[in-house]
Amino acid sequence: MATAYAQPTSALQSPREHFLQPNTPPQPRKHASRQRFAQEFSQCLYDFVIQLLPTAEELAVKEDVRKLLERLIRTIEPDSRLLQFGSTANGFSLRNSDMDLCCLIDSEERLAATDLVNMAGDLLERETKFHVKPLPHARIPIVKLSLDPAPGLPYGIACDIGFENRLALENTRLLMCYAMIDPPRVRTMVLFLKVWSKRRKINSPYKGTLSSYGYVLLVIYFLVHVKSPPVLPNLQVMPPLRPISKEETHLNGHNIWFFDDIELLRQRWKSSNTDSVAELLIDFFKFYSREFQYSHGVASIRAGLLTKDSKGWESEYEKGSPRERNRLCIEDPFEVDYNVSRCVTKDGLYTIRGEFMRASRILATRPDRAIVALAQLCEERKEEELVHPLPNNGLFIPPRLTVRYEPVQPVIAPDGVFGAALLCTILPSDVAFTSLTSAGGVPTTAAYGLIALLRLFVTPDDFTSSHYFLGRWRRPAYIATALFNGLVFATQISPFYFPVTAQSFNFAPVILGAVTIFGVLSWYFIPADKWLRREQVLRALRIADEEPYAAGSSAVEGSFASENARYRAESVNGKVKGVDID
Ligand code: GTP
Ligand code: MG
Repeated sequence: MATAYAQPTSALQSPREHFLQPNTPPQPRKHASRQRFAQEFSQCLYDFVIQLLPTAEELAVKEDVRKLLERLIRTIEPDSRLLQFGSTANGFSLRNSDMDLCCLIDSEERLAATDLVNMAGDLLERETKFHVKPLPHARIPIVKLSLDPAPGLPYGIACDIGFENRLALENTRLLMCYAMIDPPRVRTMVLFLKVWSKRRKINSPYKGTLSSYGYVLLVIYFLVHVKSPPVLPNLQVMPPLRPISKEETHLNGHNIWFFDDIELLRQRWKSSNTDSVAELLIDFFKFYSREFQYSHGVASIRAGLLTKDSKGWESEYEKGSPRERNRLCIEDPFEVDYNVSRCVTKDGLYTIRGEFMRASRILATRPDRAIVALAQLCEERKEEELVHPLPNNGLFIPPRLTVRYEPVQPVIAPDGVFGAALLCTILPSDVAFTSLTSAGGVPTTAAYGLIALLRLFVTPDDFTSSHYFLGRWRRPAYIATALFNGLVFATQISPFYFPVTAQSFNFAPVILGAVTIFGVLSWYFIPADKWLRREQVLRALRIADEEPYAAGSSAVEGSFASENARYRAESVNGKVKGVDID
């Protein structure tokens, strides 16, 4: 435990200051333009996110609504309390976020959740102006409420009331604790990703994509288990400061222990990762576009990377429904048998990965002004590109990802015409003919050699989930491939015999040089999207993945402390998990 704590950090800054200035200066090792972009982009992210935080008035209205609903529900269950969970309680709330409320009943004799949902639904329908929709038979029975927009409430209110969902209160508290450890980086990343995923239309479990809760878990998994050194500690494996009984750490058979004395943690622990929020976001997109093992892996913030096999979470279809589960696997922090992303369909996952790739590509190009990158990232996605919503019969039919196939035009490629003309003129010359045929093979050999070299020096540890991943033999295989192709390449571009005369000169390098210059110019002037469209990449990914499957708040940080205190007091057991560190 002693090593888990570094020296105390400096006194806390004011909440706004703290939110705006990461307490960790960017590293000097990065290339200057990259560093400048990261700095500018970080600032853009803070400015962007801050203006999307809920206003004090909105929070006040929501608190009034909560009190009103609590008063009404107490007419059915006098010993009940209505507590906020989800984003309004964990610091990841955006302006006009929905309200997630949980009704706790502090008496032994209480109605079943299904009856409560029906009775509360009737009551709220009678006594309020809310549109009410009870869902008594959902996995977690809830009453859905919504209020139409009004002059003082331009976006209306959406609210879900669940009953006795104590695990949700606990996981909200866990997320809040993670947010409190490093608000400038964690909150900014999460809030930005929430806006981004909503704008890009990939934040809808009902349509086969991922819930906000799922995205938050992906961020925490990345910061705890992927980044090295980690940005966040694993709160669930930190030992308690005093012995704690099993009753205190277990709820409904689930271990809900985590280290929750964040003020103490912040005094004694500091991450040695000094990446700025922009750098983290760039790496986040890169990781989830290319590196996360979607086909076999399970992201667990509790235990790191697990396998689908070990959890028994192979991709499968629900009985009697074409809806698929376990395409993407994210373990719930406490309900470890529960896949938070179980609703993500195959098309949903490809859409999400496509968006991660798009974001990664935008950030890799580092536009001159960071604000341009931000605008491009959050550009609203067209509805037509979405997976289709539920059809009327209630069954979810996962549609194929929309891929536009352009009709094939009967064109004669200009390079074909050029090649044919050239061939006619040079056929009489032996040298020209041999050079030309030799030049035909040179690019192929060079390309194979180049791929091996790039894999060896640029991405030696990528593509680990590939079907043909060679494990520890990959580096020797890259070296052998590069050497062999290098040798063939050298032979192909050498003169036919010495001394070199007009009759023995091999024109292959000249032809290759001309083609290379043409290629470089095309690469420079033609946008990447024209060469390789995102749909093509997604289609390739889809095909590559077929095989394995076939085989097998508060506006600023300051209010966190009071939120945490309230949670400690009001939450399930009201227990204090940390005592004096000394
Ligand atoms: P916004 O509503 O988009 O602001 O985000 P949020 O942070 O409130 O997340 P969301 O509405 O997705 O989830 C609210 C809470 O429901 C989470 O904080 C969890 O406590 C709880 N929850 C538990 N399991 C699930 C799950 O599988 N899906 C979702 N959506 N929520 C879950
Ligand atoms: Mg919510």
